[in-house]
Amino acid sequence: MYSSDATTESVSGPLEQVHGGGVRAAAAHYGIPEAQWLDLSTGINPQGYPVGPVPAEVWQCLPEDEDGLEAAARAYYGAESLLPVAGSQAAIQALPRLRAGPARVGVLEPSYNEHTRAWRAAGHEVVAVSQDELAGTATTLDVLVLVNPNNPTAVYFDPETLLDWHCTLAARGGWLVVDEAFMDTTPEQSLAGYTPREGLFVLRSLGKFFGLAGARVGFVLAPGLWLERVDSLLGPWSVPGPARWVARQALEDRAWQTQTRWQLQEAGHRLDALLREAGLPPTGGTPLFRWCRTERAQVIQDALARQGILVRRFDRPASLRFGLPGSDAEWQRLEAGLQQA
Ligand SMILES: Cc1ncc(COP(=O)(O)O)c(C=O)c1O
Repeated sequence: MYSSDATTESVSGPLEQVHGGGVRAAAAHYGIPEAQWLDLSTGINPQGYPVGPVPAEVWQCLPEDEDGLEAAARAYYGAESLLPVAGSQAAIQALPRLRAGPARVGVLEPSYNEHTRAWRAAGHEVVAVSQDELAGTATTLDVLVLVNPNNPTAVYFDPETLLDWHCTLAARGGWLVVDEAFMDTTPEQSLAGYTPREGLFVLRSLGKFFGLAGARVGFVLAPGLWLERVDSLLGPWSVPGPARWVARQALEDRAWQTQTRWQLQEAGHRLDALLREAGLPPTGGTPLFRWCRTERAQVIQDALARQGILVRRFDRPASLRFGLPGSDAEWQRLEAGLQQA
């Protein structure tokens, strides 16, 4: 089982990827020691927020609400009504359990497949909705779930369109759930500033742009009553104190955020150019990853993996997703790896 970033469906072939990540399994499969892998299979910023030493009392005390984390998040997202959760994954699993059902739930496909899994597990009827079908579906669904920008296709949905769909859904007691895990480089496209609204749930993550996937911190932006329900479902102390402490620093550090936005844009362009030169022009991209549709996805993934470079592959449609290398040496390794592949 791979550890993060599940997208659309498990794929068959040399690497059985349900998620990105999972260097350990790849290391065992290809007989290359774990430490020698270049893992580009997730969309996590390789130069994430620099975490300093965590004060001893933060480890020792029980975490407290309103310790400064919520205030930092309100300022960062420009949203008044929010709840910290242990990664947006915790919210993805909780929301379906709060919706009376069975509801008819449309989930964008291809996309991060944990949404489908969670709504199905809670007993709802899930319909896969393609990007082209989205506009027509709001009137036929109880809940519409999409990822913006989408993972892996990198399609962006503009706020006006989403608010329009939200209105249609909310008028009938429906929900729009927007997973903005990859939104931090384009905050102007976020729906955060339009919350709280009845029937609108926006999910945010500190795992991607901030590169703090291991801290397990995310947020739900929604009306207070729904946040209370999520909170009581998840129980007390769901986000550990050290994770809260680190997340607060990251959310308050405007200088780091501004510089990182710029650096990620640059790195994204560099990755684009590198893939083009290698004959793999990206079909779509966000600053944190590039997505390439290619019938040769399996062959290329395998050829890269033989050189200790792990990328994420999808079968429907056949495609590869490349995360960003971090150091110069990693960029060179990817360039050489692509040439060989
Ligand atoms: C689109 C999307 N949403 C949510 C998540 C979950 O992220 P986290 O629980 O680390 O916030 C992921 C993880 O890969 C993702 O790709």
